[in-house]
Amino acid sequence: MSENYVLQLQHIRKEYPGVVALKDVTLELKAGEILALIGENGAGKSTLIKCCSGAVIPTSGKIIVNGKEFSSMTPQLASENGIAIIYQEFNNVKELSAAENLFLGHPIRKGIIVDKKAMEAEAARAFEQLHIRINPKALMKDLTVGYQQMVEIAKAIQQNARILIMDEPSAPLTSAEVESMFEVVELLRSQGVSIIYISHRLEEIYRLSDRIVVIRDGEYVKTLITKDSQVEELIQLMVGRELTETYPPRGNCIDENEVILELKNLTGNGDKNISLKLHKGEILGLGGLVGAGRTELVEMIFGAVPKKSGQMVYKGRDIEPKSPREAIDLGIALVPEDRKRHGAMLGISIKNNINMPIYERDSHLSVVDEKLEMSTAEKYRDSMAIKTPNLHQLIKNLSGGNQQKVILGRWMAAKSELIIFDEPTRGIDVGAKYEIYKLMNDLVEKEGKSIIMISSEMEELMGMSDRIIVLAEGEVTGELSKEEFTQESIMTYASAAAKEEEIQ
Ligand SMILES: Nc1ncnc2c1ncn2[C@@H]1O[C@H](COP(=O)(O)OP(=O)(O)OP(=O)(O)O)[C@@H](O)[C@H]1O
Ligand SMILES: [Mg+2]
Repeated sequence: MSENYVLQLQHIRKEYPGVVALKDVTLELKAGEILALIGENGAGKSTLIKCCSGAVIPTSGKIIVNGKEFSSMTPQLASENGIAIIYQEFNNVKELSAAENLFLGHPIRKGIIVDKKAMEAEAARAFEQLHIRINPKALMKDLTVGYQQMVEIAKAIQQNARILIMDEPSAPLTSAEVESMFEVVELLRSQGVSIIYISHRLEEIYRLSDRIVVIRDGEYVKTLITKDSQVEELIQLMVGRELTETYPPRGNCIDENEVILELKNLTGNGDKNISLKLHKGEILGLGGLVGAGRTELVEMIFGAVPKKSGQMVYKGRDIEPKSPREAIDLGIALVPEDRKRHGAMLGISIKNNINMPIYERDSHLSVVDEKLEMSTAEKYRDSMAIKTPNLHQLIKNLSGGNQQKVILGRWMAAKSELIIFDEPTRGIDVGAKYEIYKLMNDLVEKEGKSIIMISSEMEELMGMSDRIIVLAEGEVTGELSKEEFTQESIMTYASAAAKEEEIQ
């Protein structure tokens, strides 16, 4: 029976001081299939697959690769046995070319000299095989995240990987990039590569996978055949309870008479003449395609990039924050999209991370109020269900999604009046999403704050916003009130500028 399986993880257990990341997980991968691995943030998905590469040594359990049994792996063993992993954060060298990254650690040599030409030729062939267009000489730092990921995949295939494990590969990608990634994944399956695919996006799981393994709290829950399963069932298996509503209800708490922020003809590098109003207690959604200028807009408001012209009126006063520091002092917060890069300080504790903006704001205070800090951190741990043994845990030891929750908690704790969320729930599991939505509701409803939310997830945009403003190519192309929300109308406005150009 076992000969059908290329990889078997049996009764894997992994203990860390104070945490049992995996209690007893079994997963079996068939030859040539795409097996989805799903579970809440902190369920143990990344830890489990790291056992296959030797990045994590299991406390107990067996790893069987093509019938060969191991108690743990090493990177060398993994590679010899045809296993490759595309990690949640990939580790390429930005200053080297795509070709050099492809051969990182085992360059082609001519005598003792590294043969750049040969590597470039090989890389070109490898990319072509995957139907991807990348110049082998291009520096990694000049490639989009999507292409960087393609290089990682090509590298795995170059090393003859027959088992490819992908940890949330779609999370950093734009929707067009996701499409190309799917094509590559499907091509690999057709070539007989067996794939484990981790994602929080259930529509991807349905599109790609043959079977699904669900884990919860470090324990194996169930294996399902994708085409015979229901979304509701998956969610229930993942979160352990039924989730009846996706978006928590919110009472009307908008104060139409109080405009907290008004933009008048705000112009930046890509953005042109953006005018909009945000009321107290309102959640304003910003829709649009990737590259529409939404991130630049909020970065101007946050003082992270300079405006060229136009006016920002905040609480009745003209403002022009020259730095995020100034914006924070004014009571404006931005929860950035790329939280790894901008947000989390990986080497410090959860408690200190959450209290960070408070330290900065009240830096004149010489006494740190330990009790208050602890209770603030506890409040956000509980409301967002941050999974951790204690609040002194370092951020880097948390699962990817839980790191994001800490960063969200940090900005919520900063007593800001205007909070801007850029893609707030990317990489966050369905259960935790609901908790974050509830927190956003509380912020406007109970605390009288105002929110601007950028989201590329149409459902989320419509589910959470009071009003949606759509941008295309740096301009406001439409404004929708709640009654007017439909996927079609948002898409029409989002592609409006492109259409006009075509007509001309
Ligand atoms: N080095 C470590 N030290 C202590 N605890 C750890 C360490 N690595 C992982 N953990 C804990 O193990 C658990 C499982 O984490 P893991 O990263 O595997 O989750 P995940 O399912 O991949 O979640 P996500 O969807 O958020 O990426 C978490 O509670 C995490 O805090
Ligand atoms: Mg993970």
